[in-house]
Amino acid sequence: MTGDHMSVDSDDFRKAMAQFATGVTVVTTRDSSRHLLGLTANAFCSVSLTPPLVLVCVGAHSETHPGFVQSGYFGVSVLAENQEVISRSFAQSGLEKFEGAPLVEGRHGLPLLEGALAHMECRVVAAHPAGDHTIYLGEVLRMEVFAGRPLLYYRSSYHRLEAEEDAQP
Ligand SMILES: Cc1cc2nc3c(=O)[nH]c(=O)nc-3n(C[C@H](O)[C@H](O)[C@H](O)COP(=O)(O)O)c2cc1C
Repeated sequence: MTGDHMSVDSDDFRKAMAQFATGVTVVTTRDSSRHLLGLTANAFCSVSLTPPLVLVCVGAHSETHPGFVQSGYFGVSVLAENQEVISRSFAQSGLEKFEGAPLVEGRHGLPLLEGALAHMECRVVAAHPAGDHTIYLGEVLRMEVFAGRPLLYYRSSYHRLEAEEDAQP
């Protein structure tokens, strides 16, 4: 009964999804009192080219939700291979994770991580509840691309590209 979700064990689901290699992003935003919020996210993908849309899926327990809702904006920093420490820090709740983080401010007032491979500044255009996550759909208002090599996540651990891969933007 593969079509019946009741038969899908969550450990099996995690294991199957862990076969899907991804990059790593840190998604940042601000709440209405301008307090910085953010989380490490690999449930990030492009949705549309015209207009440019991306989505990020944020878990129900994330403390970052008020930022998406209250500011209506979010920033995406695509992490470089030397930013594993940042990824680990932003993957914890309840920490002053912005303290000591190398930030630059985007044109829309969003905090973005310096040293990332790409920055995107997005306006929230939809929020869809989806199981134990919320899908935030964002229109990309501005972006910037930098040279470097990506941080990868595969089978629950961090990886880097082999040396011969091209690192140009
Ligand atoms: C590599 C990696 C990818 C992650 N991807 C996501 C994701 O796409 N969505 C999500 O909600 N949490 C994701 N997490 C977990 C969050 O980063 C973690 O729950 C974090 O504590 C949330 O912080 P917050 O409560 O301050 O928002 C990921 C963690 C790691 C290590």
